[in-house]
Amino acid sequence: MQHTDRKLNQMTCRKGNKYQGLTPKTHPWMASLMAQGNLLKELITMHGSPVNILHMDPFEENIAAYRKLFRSFNLKHKIYFARKANKCKSFVRQAIRSGIGIDTASERELAEALDLGMHGQDLVLTSAIKTRTQIELAIKNKVTIILDNVDECHLVNSIAREFNHRVDVGVRVSGFQVNGEKLYSRFGFDIDRVSPFILKNIGENKTYDRLDLTGLHFHLNGYSIEERIAALDQCLELAKQYKSAGYSIQFIDMGGGILVNYLQSREEWESFQLRLKESLMKKAPPVTFQNNGLGYRVLDGKITGSLDTYPYYNEIHGAAFLKKIIMSRGSHGKILADELKKENIQLRIEPGRSLIDQSGITVARVVHRKQDAVGDWLVGLEMNMSQMMSSSADFLLDPFIIYQNRATNQKNTAVYFTGAYCLERDLLLKRKIALPALPEIGDLVVFVNTAGYMMHFFETEAHRFALAKNLVASSRIITLTTNDFMIDDQASYHG
Ligand SMILES: Cc1ncc(COP(=O)(O)O)c(C=O)c1O
Repeated sequence: MQHTDRKLNQMTCRKGNKYQGLTPKTHPWMASLMAQGNLLKELITMHGSPVNILHMDPFEENIAAYRKLFRSFNLKHKIYFARKANKCKSFVRQAIRSGIGIDTASERELAEALDLGMHGQDLVLTSAIKTRTQIELAIKNKVTIILDNVDECHLVNSIAREFNHRVDVGVRVSGFQVNGEKLYSRFGFDIDRVSPFILKNIGENKTYDRLDLTGLHFHLNGYSIEERIAALDQCLELAKQYKSAGYSIQFIDMGGGILVNYLQSREEWESFQLRLKESLMKKAPPVTFQNNGLGYRVLDGKITGSLDTYPYYNEIHGAAFLKKIIMSRGSHGKILADELKKENIQLRIEPGRSLIDQSGITVARVVHRKQDAVGDWLVGLEMNMSQMMSSSADFLLDPFIIYQNRATNQKNTAVYFTGAYCLERDLLLKRKIALPALPEIGDLVVFVNTAGYMMHFFETEAHRFALAKNLVASSRIITLTTNDFMIDDQASYHG
């Protein structure tokens, strides 16, 4: 659905940066909601500002796209939603309904998924730090545990012995060779040392005799397709080796990191980066607060560094990204999907961000406007930086503004959105946003596609601010009243 001006009950929705913007892709549910400004206003009145609004349709659509791809290759597969990307329980409930699993990264994520009715066999525990109670819960519920280091092998094995259980484990591998260079990771067992360790220590009559090695796991930092091809290829080699040594290797889990495409236009994405560099060289007006280079900087009159944000524009993303990997040829010249089938190995994925692409928005209320000493307009929103923050240097999607009563004679105003923490750096977006009029107090700002890592990953309660409410749109049809939204904890199955 295209975003043009919308007027309904005198509320007007406009995208920021009509020209020279970074126009986000928006699912029809978002467009339809933004056209109902009064409803959003009521939701903020009821639940406070900001509110996160979630919708389950895109989640289902994204699951369906991965499934379709796997089925087209006739590949044994399992999809686990990486819950760290968003804490809402509704995604767990929906995962159960859709028949996928959950990748859990903490005891609470694991316990909640079990409480909500997910079977242990549909869960995987991949936490970076695994405590005794976490492991006990996993073992009691037959959850596959992904082992990261020798101490974990020891602890898992000893708890399994205490409980007189056996445990399905996958070993996390890192240090893959790509183009003659070794990738570094602090996670997992190094590929050059993992085999002697496994062959010597894991299995019957060995040190770790309660562990059933059923698979291999990797999660690579970053989003390189090439690195994933190399890692999958090298894990396949390990799997063959372990199978011939008598281990029952059933899966390779390639973790997450599947790219999302957030933006509509490649041209906008490229010209933004050009303008950012020109502004740093003082050849163009600033596009960011205090000319923040977002990773670029000027050294000896030249631009150095690289953009330190998520790569928001990606032509190959989602299922197409995965397809590129599985249809590539490994080092022996064979197609990886064919090799997986030949070896009867299930390919597992743990997408977080890409499974909830288009599933959430964050809406906040304008509280004040002011001009700073250099004449820039600062628009204070009733939210704080932790409520929309990821490891990306900035969230490069144009926000939408919902004016309550926009006088047509007002003039274009460029603004920065500021937050409630007592930090100079509490800027919700570092990018300057051009608006058709200065917002008024009580107008709303909508940040789209925030479900993946933006709304929850770094949220804090500093200053004793309450965490934002998470509302789940319960209906597939155009939502019309506040009754169509439930607070996440109370949300029931959708469908
Ligand atoms: C083990 C593991 N699996 C899955 C994911 C999810 O990655 P993404 O949200 O990029 O798909 C992560 C993210 O850090 C991870 O560490």
